Amino acid sequence: MTKNAPLGVFDSGLGGLTVVRALRAALPHEDIVYLGDTARVPYGTKGPATVTRYALACASHLVARGVKAIVIACNTVSAVAPALLRVELDLPVLEVIEPGARAAAEATKSFKVGVLATAGTIASGAYPRAVASFSTRIETYGQAAPLLVPLAEEGWTEGEVPRLAARKYLEPLARAGVDVIVLGCTHYPLLFPVIEAEAKAMLGSGVTIIDSARAVARDVAAFLASRDLAADPARGAGSIRLLVTDVPKTFDDTASRFLGSAATGAEQVDL
Ligand code: DGL
Repeated sequence: MTKNAPLGVFDSGLGGLTVVRALRAALPHEDIVYLGDTARVPYGTKGPATVTRYALACASHLVARGVKAIVIACNTVSAVAPALLRVELDLPVLEVIEPGARAAAEATKSFKVGVLATAGTIASGAYPRAVASFSTRIETYGQAAPLLVPLAEEGWTEGEVPRLAARKYLEPLARAGVDVIVLGCTHYPLLFPVIEAEAKAMLGSGVTIIDSARAVARDVAAFLASRDLAADPARGAGSIRLLVTDVPKTFDDTASRFLGSAATGAEQVDL
């Protein structure tokens, strides 16, 4: 496997671009091929067998394009599919739950961690397992927050509607008295300001909100370095190629918000 081959990143939709943004900052020389399965989003409301089947189709498409490693930029897929993908695909597969769980375990002082995620991720129990692997003293409270996905995809990230939705989803976590809340869905960082403001109003200013994208990017960088798979810096800035399975009307605007820079020229592919 050549070190200058691209990194393959995929998500059910555009949320994974928040991970691409962090990868770009941490690994400026890497070429990245991003696949958003926008024709089949959301994954979070679907069962594990369906999500695993979709994930295998996405990852296989990226493998066929010659990527050197896969980053699953979706918590719902990370909750149910990494083991199968590692068996089926003959290349490294990295995921987003362990880095977020580690960051939460390091940040909590009350040993009570909250997780906002899709229904599929919460039902899988992946976060409580991952957090417990860092400390068995910590109790993890999960809350499914399905409405936050369409709000993020639609770019509806400010105002009364996201504020009320965030508040409703945070109530059980506030009752549990958590001091750390993990955004356990790659779509939610777009709603970070609203979620943080509501969480601080309900839980006090000491609450920590964790967007795992930076922790994921750090882990990917460390992994590539340890395998001598990091792109050669002499080749200059890496490229970002965007693939989608359907082109939503507002794709450029919405994708740019997730990516934090202009996202144009997405190519539609058939899996
Ligand atoms: N990006 C997905 C995740 O991180 C959520 C969106 C979906 O439901 O497909 O779980």
